[in-house]
Amino acid sequence: MKGKFITFEGCEGVGKSRQIAYVREFLQNRGVPFILTREPGGPKISEKIREIILDAENKDMSDECEALLYAAARVQHIKEVIAPALEAGKIVLCDRYIDSSFAYQAYARGLGEKFIREINAYAMNFLPDLTLFLDLEPEAAFLRKGGADKSDRVELCGLEFHKKVYAGYLAVAREFPDRIVKIDCSGEKHQTREKILAVLKERIFDGI
Ligand code: TYD
Repeated sequence: MKGKFITFEGCEGVGKSRQIAYVREFLQNRGVPFILTREPGGPKISEKIREIILDAENKDMSDECEALLYAAARVQHIKEVIAPALEAGKIVLCDRYIDSSFAYQAYARGLGEKFIREINAYAMNFLPDLTLFLDLEPEAAFLRKGGADKSDRVELCGLEFHKKVYAGYLAVAREFPDRIVKIDCSGEKHQTREKILAVLKERIFDGI
């Protein structure tokens, strides 16, 4: 049996980690085989690339270099972790994936969608079965998380950048309406949890 590939996307501070933890608990309670992984990262090589990308000291990194590093980490992640888990029939939960490259690199950095599609050609053949876009505007998200993490190069980019990221996500969601489901995260975390579980039950787990 083939597994299912589910990704989580959204701006910084929307409460993504908390919601992923709820889904993990949901799967554990039902004995569903799954793995939880993240981007940039996952296997050792991709985690090493993550350190380079996020290091606040790497101020001189060009946007193109950044985009290529995300794409490189992603190919390794797919080959070493995601594809084998799906082949083994597992559910793969992934914290961020290619839509982050569309929102952050194509739209917010301005590299354009064509370039991101090209350098991510491998991942474009490996799209998720379902992407949950945790929808909350960056102003509200930053308030929720109490400001930016100063050791993280991307978080330090400021509100204007993150507004572009958000606009990028909305554009990508319009482009892949069947795959990407928007989840309104403006309410309490338990309300968001119920919305996510309802989508998962309908789209992936029919009846469990
Ligand atoms: P992380 O600390 O994991 O952020 P979060 O907890 O918000 O998920 O850092 C990952 C950062 O990398 C985040 O700012 C989004 C960014 N990113 C991209 O710009 N492009 C990508 O393709 C991916 C996967 C992440």
